[in-house]
Amino acid sequence: MNPVKHVAIIMDGNGRWGLKYKNSRNAGHKEGLNTVEKIIKETIKNKIKFLTLFAFSTENWKRPKKEINYLFNLLENFLENRISDLNKQNIKLKIIGLKNFSTNFNRLLSKSEKKTSKNSKLQINLAINYGSKYEIINAFKNLQKKKETINEKSFEKYLLTKNIPDPDILIRTGGTTRLSNFLLWQLAYTEIFFERKLWPEFNNNDYSRIIKKFKKIKRNFGSI
Ligand code: FPP
Repeated sequence: MNPVKHVAIIMDGNGRWGLKYKNSRNAGHKEGLNTVEKIIKETIKNKIKFLTLFAFSTENWKRPKKEINYLFNLLENFLENRISDLNKQNIKLKIIGLKNFSTNFNRLLSKSEKKTSKNSKLQINLAINYGSKYEIINAFKNLQKKKETINEKSFEKYLLTKNIPDPDILIRTGGTTRLSNFLLWQLAYTEIFFERKLWPEFNNNDYSRIIKKFKKIKRNFGSI
């Protein structure tokens, strides 16, 4: 049985769900947050140590301003209202992405990380303004500056996921089968599960089914 240390999720399909049931893409994002809460609980139940959630990509800035503002309000409220409880539950929050937001939002992100930094039950990596190609180029530039020997180990020290094991499982909901510039380096040997369901419809049973299936996979890592 394969142990599961790290699950990463591309939470796709909020917009379509919102349009279909509430005539509003933003309503889908709101509903998507409920799925986030459920999946956090289930991750803890399964004793998984790392959960990485793709909340906003470097390409999502191309969306209408109204949707971007809604998403950032949702994130802000989540951090303001939920961080104390996450902290009580011994959950550590780490932001991965380019932290070049407004001073207030940057401050909220740093405060949330600092408050939970000593926690050890589960680490949630929230990918906000995250793009894998940027991350890789940036890591390479930093490595070059330090004139260090270039190998996988030295390179990984400069990734935003430094000290985080590579994901065992990647889940993408929403029916599309692409990686959308998410953790391109880290997913080299990850088992990928593409789900038809839209993120607001994804539930604990779907999650458990994936974990169960993963545990039985023969992982070769290039061997036989
Ligand atoms: C992709 O669906 C989803 C996003 C870009 C945002 C994800 C955000 C949340 C689930 C809520 C906030 C999360 C946290 C962790 C506080 P889409 O809009 O691309 O859907 P579509 O493919 O149907 O258009």
